[in-house]
Amino acid sequence: MDSLSTRIERLIRPGVRALRAYHVADAGDMIKLDAMENPNVWPGELEQAWLRALSDVHINRYPDAQSQELKDALRAFMDIPVSVDLMLGNGSDELIQILQLAVCGPGRKVLAPTPSFVMYEMIATAVGLEFIAVPLRDSFDLDVAAMCAAIEEHRPALVFLAWPNNPTGNLFDALALEAVIEASPGLVVIDEAYQPFSGQSWMSRIEQYDNLLVMRTLSKMGMAGLRLGVLAGRRAWLQEFEKIRLPYNINSLTQAGVIFVLKHQARIDQQIEQICAERERVAEALEAITGVQVYPSQTNFILFRIENADVVFDRLKQSGILVKNLSGAGTVLDDCLRVTIGLPQENDSFLLALEQAI
Ligand SMILES: Cc1ncc(COP(=O)(O)O)c(C=O)c1O
Repeated sequence: MDSLSTRIERLIRPGVRALRAYHVADAGDMIKLDAMENPNVWPGELEQAWLRALSDVHINRYPDAQSQELKDALRAFMDIPVSVDLMLGNGSDELIQILQLAVCGPGRKVLAPTPSFVMYEMIATAVGLEFIAVPLRDSFDLDVAAMCAAIEEHRPALVFLAWPNNPTGNLFDALALEAVIEASPGLVVIDEAYQPFSGQSWMSRIEQYDNLLVMRTLSKMGMAGLRLGVLAGRRAWLQEFEKIRLPYNINSLTQAGVIFVLKHQARIDQQIEQICAERERVAEALEAITGVQVYPSQTNFILFRIENADVVFDRLKQSGILVKNLSGAGTVLDDCLRVTIGLPQENDSFLLALEQAI
């Protein structure tokens, strides 16, 4: 009989064994500015109304497999053209997985600029797709010539473009995206996770390109805990992806919970406005600190470079502030930290702790 470790080695694919599980830091009692969450909680009376809406859900029954009422609410909320179809995922992470499962096979490739959202590569490795990373320019702009050359050489089945990009925070030039879409023999997925903070979208251009998909999430606008991602695209594509989606991937409480929240658009808009205003205030305050290089952001986070980022990160933690440390991997992000915009007083605590840390 094989030992357990031999059996694992024999059965688990090498690509999977080489992966490291996605690490989620334990924030404990710290001010949590590491995961691009909306920091606002709902006031008591709205929370009570939300709980009443949830109490109407019969959890002994399976959820609506098509999430039809939720899709209708999303369509109105996100201004999605009627000609475009929707597929929902348990977060956009699941949509990225469904897309990659649909195209994986021997010799198939996925391409994305780097640095970008880590799940594109993690999922590619997990499903056995070759991942092609095309470095961004030093300014973190898209290198269109390098992207088009790599697309021509590798003919990727999927290209992922986070717009705005995580972790750099910038919006790539729209003409650069057009060039990539037009050069791609495969699908191009524009991941608009941070669209609420940039206010710009490709949603209305889906009809213009037959290889364009647009992805959104509700995570960054205050519903990260409900897990809901939205994929918009032509029906012909989505019909194929539907074959891979598990029938009840959006649970009943998420469906009812999001439908309730979307009825309060003015409140969500107001929170987003406040986050954007705070982003500008924090960016200015960071720029005023000697030794800090701030990258422009169209998101709800700010990437900044600072000497001895590892030490600064640890000191911030000791002061009870958790940000994301992107340093230490020997990449272009060395000495970079990423801070999510929190409540005004949380941002103040962060800025004070940062000044003390350096
Ligand atoms: C660009 C981008 N896409 C997708 C996601 C995943 O979002 P979700 O919570 O919907 O899985 C993230 C999360 O940080 C992200 O930064």
